[in-house]
Amino acid sequence: MKRAKINYPARITLANLPTPLVKLERLSATLGGVAVWVKRDEMTGVEVSGNKLRKLEFCIAEAQRQGCDTLITCGGLQSNHCRATAIMGARLGMKVQLILRGEEPEVASGNLLMDRLAGAQISYLPAEGWASAHPQYAAQLQAEAEVAGSKAYFIPTGASDEVGLWGYIAASEELAADFTAAGLRPDALVCATGSGGTQAGLIAGNALFDLAEQVVAFNVSDNAAYFEERAQHDISAWQQRYADILAGTPAADLKVSELAVNTQEAYLGPGYGIGYPEVFETIKTVAACEGLFLDPVYTGKAFYGMLNEIRKGADGCFAGAHNIVFVHTGGLFGVFPQQDQFTFDD
Ligand SMILES: Cc1ncc(COP(=O)(O)O)c(C=O)c1O
Repeated sequence: MKRAKINYPARITLANLPTPLVKLERLSATLGGVAVWVKRDEMTGVEVSGNKLRKLEFCIAEAQRQGCDTLITCGGLQSNHCRATAIMGARLGMKVQLILRGEEPEVASGNLLMDRLAGAQISYLPAEGWASAHPQYAAQLQAEAEVAGSKAYFIPTGASDEVGLWGYIAASEELAADFTAAGLRPDALVCATGSGGTQAGLIAGNALFDLAEQVVAFNVSDNAAYFEERAQHDISAWQQRYADILAGTPAADLKVSELAVNTQEAYLGPGYGIGYPEVFETIKTVAACEGLFLDPVYTGKAFYGMLNEIRKGADGCFAGAHNIVFVHTGGLFGVFPQQDQFTFDD
């Protein structure tokens, strides 16, 4: 299949790109003939890092295009996306208002500490009723900003909407160049999925740039049916919103309902943000074997799921695979609030 040429909307440079693509040699040697590669998107930056930065390149460009001086966004208390937005706002001289799910903890740690250090204004809303309450509260903050002579742009959870979707469409184009350089045709691209935008962007990007046989996501919240609906909705909304710049490119002709959405839902464990022993063990093993750090909320769960499915051989979702590319989406600061979950023999 010929790789697509597509046009992009406004974008600002925030991430250090391209990120490296590396093969995990020692870990792969234990996997019976399957080579695991990592697209190191945790290296898009240092304190502002991970997948969210790729999405924010388009969301903040859109906010600036609309003349906004304030960013409002939302997420969990340990949201990597909120932390990235808080720091990027400080860096760009934009005000940031975060709406966080849950009660203010006594001690701010991990991402929340960084939100505070970056000077974000934070509101806490109860977890109960969050789904309907937070967009209303965001609208209220936008109205208040207007009265105060400001203009605020709302970025939804995880920057997963039709604007943020561009992040992993552009990442897919980058992956196409990586694979050409490495002479690689992966059997699968793997990621964690939470608000769905990384997965949806990779699915659309895979269809456009012909990267791999399949995109496999491991959900860290909700279930496979939710992510199927979500990916199809977000890709359709993207096609509609950007119909003018996509016109005449293969992106306009993507048949969204025919795109495969493969979400492996057996690794969520007790729920969002809650790790379990195999996840913590995987984080330790990969750190010691490869010097690569995963987190208990997103990448550790997905990586554990990927390894377990590889080890199932013909019974797993990677049956027959030789090369698998794990997209490392960041999340390191989420390790620290759960540090007491790690056990060491000595
Ligand atoms: C470290 C990390 N990995 C993966 C994800 C999942 O990405 P998405 O929200 O695009 O599904 C997130 C965000 O939710 C994240 O912070």
